[in-house]
Amino acid sequence: MRRIVWLLILSASLPAFAQKFKGLALTPPMGWNSWNKFGCDVDEALIRETADAMVSSGMKAAGYQYIVIDDCWHGERDDLGFIQPHPERFPSGMKALADYIHAKGLKFGIYSDAGWRTCAGRPGSRGREYQDAMKYAEWGVDYLKYDWCNTEGLNARGAYLTMRDALYAAGRPIVFSLCEWGNNQPWKWAESIGHLWRTTGDIAVSFDRDVDHGTWKSFGVTSILDMQEGLRVFAGPDHWNDPDMMEVGNGMSVAEDRAHFTMWCMLAAPLMAGNDLRNMPDETQRILTHPGAIAINQDSIGIQGFKYSAADSLETWFKPLSNGEWALCFLNRASGAKEITFVWDENSVSDSFSKRELDLAGSVHALHDVWAGRDIGTTEQPLTGRVGSHDVLLLKLRPVQ
Ligand code: GLA
Repeated sequence: MRRIVWLLILSASLPAFAQKFKGLALTPPMGWNSWNKFGCDVDEALIRETADAMVSSGMKAAGYQYIVIDDCWHGERDDLGFIQPHPERFPSGMKALADYIHAKGLKFGIYSDAGWRTCAGRPGSRGREYQDAMKYAEWGVDYLKYDWCNTEGLNARGAYLTMRDALYAAGRPIVFSLCEWGNNQPWKWAESIGHLWRTTGDIAVSFDRDVDHGTWKSFGVTSILDMQEGLRVFAGPDHWNDPDMMEVGNGMSVAEDRAHFTMWCMLAAPLMAGNDLRNMPDETQRILTHPGAIAINQDSIGIQGFKYSAADSLETWFKPLSNGEWALCFLNRASGAKEITFVWDENSVSDSFSKRELDLAGSVHALHDVWAGRDIGTTEQPLTGRVGSHDVLLLKLRPVQ
């Protein structure tokens, strides 16, 4: 009898059914992740300084929230199997670090892997999902990036479901970021599991060249862009396609950084900065914090943009926005500048996914050049302009009649 009473008390205290924590990413998450710039060279000083810089650089005010430590924060598991941070790199412990980040009004993210080891060979969560989720909740973690190395024999949906349920059981709302590289088409099954899922392998610091690492490849910005084809119908508020963390500020030209950032905004992609926020040139800071570009990314209807046309390395992209507005982006992938002419009433834009039409012949729209920060007339006149090599012209269209 006593045993039955205990069982009843226990089951009453557990959630009725596991699910993902809903509503944590109604717009694409914005933050910073250590991997692209620092790899395994992470410690608590870097993370604290990055949190400081997130505030002092204006990134927090621009909307960035999450400070995510990627691979290599781990130490060994303790005698009971609980994961511990690396004792020399994180001597104050993860709770103290989370408290520091939270005190700045920011949120704290961490990284693990569905396999038995992470990609950099640190302890993975396989078989320890519930213990790890408990630790993350205890530390005050707000965001978990969950990788896919060393998972031979595992079913991807099952593995991510297990961690989703473990996070739910631990009781702390945590954004769940699936990093499975698109191998098993997570866009088809992850909406009820996580808040974002990687659609590709890793990004490289390159605009249009892939990098061969022997056993694997990383991809330039335009390759990643091409791999998003067909995926927009799977994304929306609280479930985003993730074309990987940004390389803005890590070595491309200013034009390329601007084009990369703009296309991530057009894609409604998560905006995870991957550069050193403590030493940011002004141009990098200006790109990452641009209010007009960020507003396009964060638009509340959460519709991913699409390629409308492509000719001779010049692409035209549209993204429906709230209030009947649209973003329009010309992307020049060529190695030289391009003159553009866009005759509005010769184009009609119809998006069957969002069921939105942009009637350019029958209505007038005011034009705003987002990066230049100025109004440039209306759709009553054809648009003419010049887009530099590996650069963009980003416009916002507002209906006026
Ligand atoms: C994989 C991921 C990267 C990064 C590294 C860490 O390659 O795709 O984003 O997390 O692992 O080892």
